[in-house]
Amino acid sequence: METILDIRGLTKTYPGRGSAPPVDALKNVDLTIRKGEIFALLGPNGAGKTTLIGAVCGMVRPTSGSIHAFGLDMKHDWRTMRARIGLVPQEMSVDIFEKVHRSVAYSRGLFGRKADPARIEEVLRTLSLWDKRDSQLRALSGGMKRRVLIAKALAHDPDLLFLDEPTAGVDVELRRDMWNTIDKLREQGVTVILTTHYIEEAEEMADRVGVINKGRILLVDDKDAIMGRLGRTEAEFTLSQPLASLPASLSDLPVTLENDGRTIAFRGGDGSGLGKEQVAALAQTLVRENIGYTAIDQRESSLEDIFVKLVEEEGATS
Ligand SMILES: Nc1ncnc2c1ncn2[C@@H]1O[C@H](COP(=O)(O)OP(=O)(O)OP(=O)(O)O)[C@@H](O)[C@H]1O
Ligand SMILES: [Mg+2]
Repeated sequence: METILDIRGLTKTYPGRGSAPPVDALKNVDLTIRKGEIFALLGPNGAGKTTLIGAVCGMVRPTSGSIHAFGLDMKHDWRTMRARIGLVPQEMSVDIFEKVHRSVAYSRGLFGRKADPARIEEVLRTLSLWDKRDSQLRALSGGMKRRVLIAKALAHDPDLLFLDEPTAGVDVELRRDMWNTIDKLREQGVTVILTTHYIEEAEEMADRVGVINKGRILLVDDKDAIMGRLGRTEAEFTLSQPLASLPASLSDLPVTLENDGRTIAFRGGDGSGLGKEQVAALAQTLVRENIGYTAIDQRESSLEDIFVKLVEEEGATS
């Protein structure tokens, strides 16, 4: 797998102002992004996500560490590198009196790209902004403005796109739209790094997920692997009749008798690999053992559960 971005030992300490102590926003971060992937960086407020993006996009000067993109060293080839990167910032900073089309076309020019009206039209159409091309930005809704930010970030055809909280404050429909847009970019071979608070978003979109907290990367892995490794299946069987003890045939499974013998609870432990199939097998065993039940309540842990747990564990150890 080809590497598109390679971050090594990245540290950022913001100097303290007045009586405020310095802030270690990034602590020795190593991160490798593969060409063509969608990478979701998850972390709570203040984790360092925007700082990390800022360091790659040149808004934040790293305290130490190295950044290579497209095989170029940021220290030497900053301009060439930056011209191939698109950024949808978390904070809006656009001229509200500017018109949509001009604003997007201008962004392309910023990176020394030749004017290309056909390309700008394509970008605007993809984001359903073509009808709004002559509107002033101030006349657009918040979600529409956010689309303009994406259009601006795409105007110079970047190979690597950063989306810092792309769907914060947009409605469900627009969020779906945004996901579709990102899907299209993936098809075009654009590598996408997005930060989000919405775990659902990472779960839906990402190939790989990184979790960052207090400036440290806690975990980076394929989304499916994270779910497999840290996810868990839980099921509760409500029994027709209370049971005095569990039959021996269940001794290999992570089951307990609870609720005064009225419930059999199955808890696939972290990384045990015990999941839905074992719950189905358990149901069959109960039938064989003549243990009747009236309901099965089953749930899978989501990326959200995993994330909350990881961040809590980190909080407890630091
Ligand atoms: N310009 C700055 N000067 C001083 N401290 C800063 C500056 N920018 C960020 N910080 C601090 O660095 C830490 C990381 O901030 P950052 O904005 O990178 O977090 P984030 O993960 O993007 O958070 P959010 O989810 O709220 O956007 C925070 O403690 C923040 O207060
Ligand atoms: Mg941020």
